Amino acid sequence: MLHAHSEHDSDPPASLHLVDENATLAAGERLAGALPGRLTIYLRGDLGAGKTTLTRGLLRGLGFTGKVKSPTYTLVEPYKDSRIAIYHFDFYRFTDAEEFLEAGLDEYFEGDGVRLVEWPDRAQPYLPAADVEIRLWIAASGGRELELRALSTEGRRCLENFTTRTPPPATR
Ligand SMILES: Nc1ncnc2c1ncn2[C@@H]1O[C@H](COP(=O)(O)OP(=O)(O)O)[C@@H](O)[C@H]1O
Ligand SMILES: [Mg+2]
Repeated sequence: MLHAHSEHDSDPPASLHLVDENATLAAGERLAGALPGRLTIYLRGDLGAGKTTLTRGLLRGLGFTGKVKSPTYTLVEPYKDSRIAIYHFDFYRFTDAEEFLEAGLDEYFEGDGVRLVEWPDRAQPYLPAADVEIRLWIAASGGRELELRALSTEGRRCLENFTTRTPPPATR
């Protein structure tokens, strides 16, 4: 073990500037290659910041070629055909965090799989903790800024994979 648990809080975030939508998709694809079989990722950022676009790129990186729609109304979209099961959540429409328990969504956080959660604060205090926190915001240039932060040992390992991995060719 290279790093003590207590060092997590002081880890600097990994940052990327994303010039256009393709750069956001490429970042998601790159993250796909760094994923363990079990992880929870919070996606933070305003409407239109690129949370769903990043998830779309991640799913593409796992070989998923179908349509990736925002789970704003369904609360969760499962993708089980890839090497790792992906569960994409969006709690934007919650008016009460209890809806998380009422919908039985806590079960999705018990087993293996990678869970990506948009608007995680709206399901607190019921939502299990994240291993990785991703922040996205609109840059002055019109592009996006991306920040990834590890919050657990698994999250730290994932981010190390992400930052040392060669970015895929920008031709896709
Ligand atoms: N790096 C980027 N630069 C400019 N526009 C982007 C970038 N990444 C994504 N977009 C665009 O911004 C919007 C983001 O939408 P979406 O991913 O649904 O955001 P969110 O899920 O955060 O609400 C989409 O129209 C997408 O094409
Ligand atoms: Mg979204």
